[in-house]
Amino acid sequence: MSFFSHIEAVSPDLIFGLQAAFNADPRPFKVNLSVGVYKDEHLKTPILDCVKKAELELFELEKTKAYLPIDGDSVFIDHAALLVLGEHLFKSLEDVICGAQVAGGTAALRIGAEFLKEEAYSPIFIPRPTWPNHEAVFKRAGMKVEHYPYYDEELHKVNFASLYAFLEKIPAKSVVLLHASCHNPTGSDLTLEEWDKLSDLFLEKSLLPFFDNAYQGFGKGLEEDAKPMRLFAAKGHEMLIASSFSKNFSLYAERIAALFILTKSPTAKHAVATKVKRVIRTLYSNPPLHGAHIISHILGSKELKMLWENELGMMRSRVNSMRREFGESLNAKSKKTDFGFLLDKVGLFSFLGITSSQVKRLTSEYGIYMTADARISVAGLNTFNLNYVVDAIISVTEKP
Ligand SMILES: Cc1ncc(COP(=O)(O)O)c(C=O)c1O
Repeated sequence: MSFFSHIEAVSPDLIFGLQAAFNADPRPFKVNLSVGVYKDEHLKTPILDCVKKAELELFELEKTKAYLPIDGDSVFIDHAALLVLGEHLFKSLEDVICGAQVAGGTAALRIGAEFLKEEAYSPIFIPRPTWPNHEAVFKRAGMKVEHYPYYDEELHKVNFASLYAFLEKIPAKSVVLLHASCHNPTGSDLTLEEWDKLSDLFLEKSLLPFFDNAYQGFGKGLEEDAKPMRLFAAKGHEMLIASSFSKNFSLYAERIAALFILTKSPTAKHAVATKVKRVIRTLYSNPPLHGAHIISHILGSKELKMLWENELGMMRSRVNSMRREFGESLNAKSKKTDFGFLLDKVGLFSFLGITSSQVKRLTSEYGIYMTADARISVAGLNTFNLNYVVDAIISVTEKP
């Protein structure tokens, strides 16, 4: 008899599976456009200079590796809240916002989901399409997951009218997941006017927003990208925010993020915090220390903060210039397709608008990797591979 021999394997994670296939591909000219990780011109994911400097200083300053509190480092949490809310809102909401340092954006979403499930707030509506892990995270926490329409694949942009009409009809007290900026996978965000309308609708219909803030600073800038969350907070919404620092500090492996739950009173803040801590205690007990120290150290130093903002600006502008060159070059070479839609996207991602069999040909014939829905991360492009990728796309879309 065996306890385990009957178990059937489930399919591996899509994105990590593609990364493994890419690593195993022996072709020297292969290109990986599948992973949502920033890469520099040499296609390396750098440790930022501000991080290296902070780590050097922390080498002297860190005196213990004793456990952090269940909800993490309070100095880090305040810095994280300031980034999301800005000084004015942070000051006015300090007494009603519950914050916890958590092990990455994924943990922020999962802990939020566990908390919502326990309080019987379900279903959660997530955009179609969205980051594939959203559905899995919320479902595994026991929430019912439904989808709201987001993107018009023909027009290559957000279909706000159908999104709004759909959300108008969902039951009160539903939770709605919103990408704060740099929507993954489409790269298409709402305009501020649309956010404003949505905020009014959420208040009118008693819907609970859950912002996923995974790319702050990668879109238009640190302040610009936070505007949707600030707009909702200023209008008095209760809401959840999962704020990841994997991307904007390039601290992917440190697993550092914050979960915020905006309440209406200090009493509610306290009660919510006790519940959040109970969830964390049974998942991983308390968060890792190093990433929080790095970020607190950087954001607590005028000089390091400035360096970080510059480095983040450089990452953002490389991504933007790759997208622009890519879109313009595709457009110049394509006889059949208008790829102009690529130019107005924000963040790392965009759909290419090609078929899954064309994606298969790109991978098998050219060693170019992307998800079957033709989502690309422009961070995988550089000045050496850009023309190769453009020519391959033209070839599979225009030659049978
Ligand atoms: C939209 C979105 N949310 C959350 C995450 C998770 O981030 P983390 O690596 O901090 O868990 C990602 C990562 O790719 C993402 O794209």
